[in-house]
Amino acid sequence: MSKDKLIIFDTTMRDGEQSPGASMTLEEKVRIGKALERMRVDVIEAGFAIASPGDFASVKAVAEAVRDSRICSLARARAEDIDRAAEALKNANASRIHTFIATSPIHMQYKLRMEPDAVIESAVRAIKYARNLVEDVEFSCEDAGRSEIDFLCRIIEAAINAGARTINIPDTVGYAIPGQFGETIKTLLTRIPNADKAIFSVHCHNDLGLAVANSLSAVLNGARQVECTINGLGERAGNAALEEIVLAVRTRHDLFPVETTIRTQEIVPTSRLVSSITGFPVQPNKAIVGANAFAHESGIHQDGVLKHRETYEIMRAEDVGWNANRMVLGKHSGRAAFRARLEQLGIDAGSDNSLNQLFMRFKELADKKHEIFDEDIHALVSDTQTEVAETYKLGSLEVTSKSGTKPEAKLSIIVNGDSKAVTAIGSGPVDATFRAIEAIAHSGTTLELYSVNAITSGTDSQGEVTVRLNQAGRIINGHGADTDIVIASAKAYLNALNLMVANVERAHPQEGENI
Ligand code: KIV
Ligand code: ZN
Repeated sequence: MSKDKLIIFDTTMRDGEQSPGASMTLEEKVRIGKALERMRVDVIEAGFAIASPGDFASVKAVAEAVRDSRICSLARARAEDIDRAAEALKNANASRIHTFIATSPIHMQYKLRMEPDAVIESAVRAIKYARNLVEDVEFSCEDAGRSEIDFLCRIIEAAINAGARTINIPDTVGYAIPGQFGETIKTLLTRIPNADKAIFSVHCHNDLGLAVANSLSAVLNGARQVECTINGLGERAGNAALEEIVLAVRTRHDLFPVETTIRTQEIVPTSRLVSSITGFPVQPNKAIVGANAFAHESGIHQDGVLKHRETYEIMRAEDVGWNANRMVLGKHSGRAAFRARLEQLGIDAGSDNSLNQLFMRFKELADKKHEIFDEDIHALVSDTQTEVAETYKLGSLEVTSKSGTKPEAKLSIIVNGDSKAVTAIGSGPVDATFRAIEAIAHSGTTLELYSVNAITSGTDSQGEVTVRLNQAGRIINGHGADTDIVIASAKAYLNALNLMVANVERAHPQEGENI
């Protein structure tokens, strides 16, 4: 039996970036875009072009760098948003504008303050406007999960007549339950007279832990596009995890009438890349991409797997890219090999000068750690190509930790070109270091999260640190990597302070007026 294609629409760089603190630089987005292209993702939502000049530039850069996947920008149902999206996408090989408006009674009444008929008019106007600029327009009924079915039928029929070729049904607040959500999709497909002129898509949030289950139920009931993110990143509890959707459909091909064209071997490397760039670690027991996803602890399981793998394994680790992190380079590798690997990883080193700088950092790392994996290269690049101005720069750090005494940190940092030094003690070496930084910076922030993650296995691994600071309700995540985790911690803290000083504000798609 021939199967329908299930379109995989990745929104890691748009909805994923809406996770508090998960922001990505332009260069990081291009790297993620290239990784998604290698994975053969069909549509990549690269951002929300009108949100900020940085978002606009990132959508544009991804649209220019990625040639094999369709690139999409989000736009509220208004002309300025759509113009900005079209402008950012103008050099894409294949582009899509994704416009949306809220359709639930609660959103229409309190957020939009609009009557339902006016919402339909705005949607139709926006879709027609977008269709004059691009061929491919997607329309989303925001908060469809809490919208009335009769109203959804009316607005979707009008949206298809206006030219939308993909209709997305988001469960914006993660309220749906699988059986009921599947029924909603089936009802829409049977009741809307022109439903056959569009692809129905779903976009589920994970507030009740049901995003993947709801998406799969929708697929069983006729949805042919799923919007998802790597590692399930996304607003609040996240979105449906791409890796879980793809592997569920593939593993249970006996049940699903669809197939994807995803190259599953790219899943684990891409998961690691996203985790390293955002600083959101993957929990060890996370399906498919967690460190324990294929580890068998109990003797009975190990025995079974050794006798016949399928006794306890429904998927093969190598099929999703485990063990694919080739040892690429070492101390003796030259500049040409280094440049070639960067290119394979989709990293644009920029000018000769920046390549030299990166190569120098690579050599320093190779002196400390003799096996350099792809993850190390990504961390190195993230560390070096930071776009934020370095108001605070690490000068030197010396930490003493001795049993029976309190650790002491002697720190110097360069603040706007002036070197400042201080000594502080703390309950541990990291605590002493952060106290020393604060003795100079007086940032008035509170530390909300400190996390360390080993980038690769082995005690010579680089530690990747995330520091989350809160400044009067503003959340900023800083990242740093080093083989010395105290230095990585200092770098992460200073990175957060630099981001705070840079004060990059962005609009949020779910806030403000939609007219
Ligand atoms: O969750 C949501 O409703 C969204 C839309 C903008 C598609 O992210
Ligand atoms: Zn969303």
